[in-house]
This record gives sequence, C-alpha cells and structure tokens, in this order.
Amino acid sequence: MSSPDNELWQQSWRDGRMAFHQAEVNPLLAHYWSSLGLPPGGTVFVPLCGRSLDLVWLAEQGHQVVGCELSPVAVRDFFRQQRLTPTQTTLGPLTLWQHGAIRIYCGDFFALMPEHLGTIAAVYDRAALTALPESARAGYVEHLRQLTPENCPVFLLTAEDPEEGETDDRFPEISSEITQLYSARFAIDLAHSERRLETRREADGNPPQCIELRLYRLLPY
Ligand SMILES: C[S@@+](CC[C@H](N)C(=O)[O-])C[C@H]1O[C@@H](n2cnc3c(N)ncnc32)[C@H](O)[C@@H]1O
Repeated sequence: MSSPDNELWQQSWRDGRMAFHQAEVNPLLAHYWSSLGLPPGGTVFVPLCGRSLDLVWLAEQGHQVVGCELSPVAVRDFFRQQRLTPTQTTLGPLTLWQHGAIRIYCGDFFALMPEHLGTIAAVYDRAALTALPESARAGYVEHLRQLTPENCPVFLLTAEDPEEGETDDRFPEISSEITQLYSARFAIDLAHSERRLETRREADGNPPQCIELRLYRLLPY
C-alpha cells in the first residue's frame, strides 16, 4: 500500500473520522464464528483491526488475539476504552502493545513478518481487504498467505458495491474479485449476504450508499 493512503488513515484517526467503527460486536462474527470449528485456545489474527470490539469478543472465546493497526491513536483508544494498561515494545518499524490475551502490532501490515505472529489458527478480516485500494488487494492476500499456515481459514466480512444492474432479489453470488483473489487456495463459502443502505458515512459528509455486506468462509483445500 502506498504511503499516501497510510497518511490518509492516520489523519482520519487523528480527526476522529471513523464511520466504519462499530459500537457493538459484529453480529455475524458472534453468530457464525463457531462454525469454523476451531480448536480452543488457537491464535486469531485480525489484520487492520482499528479499535474493534471484536478483538475483545474473540479473546472472550478463549483465543489468543493478535491484531495489526497502522494508527497509534486507534491502538491507544482501544486499550483505554477497555481500561487496560498494555506494555509497549518497539520492534523496528512496529510497536507491540500487549495486555493479557490481546496483542496489537501498531504499524504497517506489510512490515509484519511471520515471526511476529507465531502460529495462527484463523484470520478474522472485517473491512481489512476492502479498506485497501483495489490495486493493493492482491498484495494484501499474498502477504497474508506468507504470514499464516496453509491450513488457516479466513473469516472474511466485506462491504461491496452492488454490481451494476443487480437487483435486490437476485441469488447472492460470490463476487468475481473474491473468487480471483482467494480461489487458488481456498474453497469459498458465501455464508451470508445482505443489502443495506449505509447512512453512517453521512457524518463524514458522504451521501447514503447502497452496499452488500457479505460473509465469506474461506476454507483451505
Ligand atoms: C475500515 S477500517 C476497519 C477496522 C476494523 N477491522 C473494524 O472492523 O473496525 C480499516 C483500518 O485499517 C487501518 N489500516 C489501513 N491501512 C493499514 C496498513 N497498511 N497497515 C495496518 N493498518 C492499516 C486503518 O487505520 C483502519 O483502522
């Protein structure tokens, strides 16, 4: 990802513009996570984690949780809001913030190395792939592949623009981009799809927008 994009994210956190942030645990995470059938105690990697409450929910399920987030404002706010005092360790371009079962590497996802993460049992991606510009997504998927074992499933939540001409009542389909990015390594199961009028971005000066919320379970072959 180019550094101008990184600077835009840093600035939105400094300005408090975070329409993507959810005040509650993601309901699809809570409903579908157990369907991955993970052994208890495995480590879940949450790339581009923001200050998501989903980190806390995953830890409450007995997982070790490791996130990565560019903005120190987001990481600081996350621990403050949980009333936790994390340790901080500088590791080259990254700073590791840690408390209990939750570790967050603050810095660029693309600077993470496999040794930072250890063995990952599953990836939880909510609006990480889709936060990146389309041109950076193949690089993101490739870097994720390098960071995780071959047998690691991905729980992928996306917000996608409906394709032109698509109607509300059509049969939900895996988007061509998701097929292109993941089908070489994963069986792709579209577990949930819904169309929603997104109004939360209005606070950032954007008009309401129709989006498709989708949950894909990516299961390694
Ligand atoms: C759309 S938000 C999603 C955050 C979180 N997954 C959630 O559900 O609330 C994307 C997040 O990725 C972070 N981000 C963007 N580019 C990044 C990068 N290259 N490395 C690490 N974090 C990044 C942004 O600061 C932002 O917090």
